[in-house]
Amino acid sequence: MEQILKGQVAVVTGASGGLGAHFARLLAKAGAAVAVTARRVEMVEAVAAEIVSEGGRALALRLDVADAAAIAPAFAQAQEALGPLSILVNNAGVGGEGLALDLTVEEWDRTFDVNVRGVFFAAQAAARMMFANGTAEKGEARVVNIASIASHTVLPGLSAYNASKAGVAMLTKSLAREWSRRGIAVNALAPGYILTDINAGWWETEGGQKQLKGFPRRRLMDAEDLDAAFTMLCGPAAKAIAGTLITIDDGQSLPGGG
Ligand SMILES: NC(=O)c1ccc[n+]([C@@H]2O[C@H](COP(=O)([O-])OP(=O)(O)OC[C@H]3O[C@@H](n4cnc5c(N)ncnc54)[C@H](OP(=O)(O)O)[C@@H]3O)[C@@H](O)[C@H]2O)c1
Repeated sequence: MEQILKGQVAVVTGASGGLGAHFARLLAKAGAAVAVTARRVEMVEAVAAEIVSEGGRALALRLDVADAAAIAPAFAQAQEALGPLSILVNNAGVGGEGLALDLTVEEWDRTFDVNVRGVFFAAQAAARMMFANGTAEKGEARVVNIASIASHTVLPGLSAYNASKAGVAMLTKSLAREWSRRGIAVNALAPGYILTDINAGWWETEGGQKQLKGFPRRRLMDAEDLDAAFTMLCGPAAKAIAGTLITIDDGQSLPGGG
């Protein structure tokens, strides 16, 4: 793979499995040094060890993004070990399922604490470092938020998740408006359904099977389907892209699709 991110240093949140671990591996293959972060330490250690065994540079760190005060110190640790932070991938997310009539305050808060508050304070901590370490000035700084088709399409039974991902889309635009002039490209990916722990149980249910059959291509996507757009948003091509939400969803969010 072309080393378009050689010399860059990335932090990926929620990288203990699923899409986050995939993004961490992809960043390393494109030449970036990667801080692999999440709450489950053994799992981020395994992802980081795999990257290192393949010749990359990686560091495993425990980080709960719902703990806003823990974010900046973790990013500082990553920067100290790997070099000036230039890419943040705001990937950590929780599903937040529950019909609106049943949703508790605790469930709502948990979804927003991770999916919205975590995204905002991670972006704030990263941006402060990118302005201070020169990567923003060089035009190399990137924030890539992992939104969802739920940012613009109702996923039934997921009101808190939908609202949280709509929040991520608007945060992406708001932060891009503030920071693009100063050299940070803030953008988001809105993936359709990909089989990971966040939704695995659902596809085994009757409702899940029915939903799958309604998708234009009658299948789930693969994490690899995101690779080209993801790499673009992290790399030099994103220099003139600001506040964009790129939907990659196999047509799942087209009217009548889901
Ligand atoms: N899979 C899909 O179909 C799909 C589609 C669109 C968007 N997305 C988005 O993609 C992102 C990744 O999801 P996924 O599908 O890969 O799900 P996943 O396999 O369940 O992974 C979620 C990741 O988030 C981490 N996480 C959860 N709470 C956290 C917290 N408080 N602090 C730090 N990390 C936390 C988990 O790590 P720990 O538990 O170790 O902390 C895990 O690594 C999410 O933002 C999700 O909304 C997924």
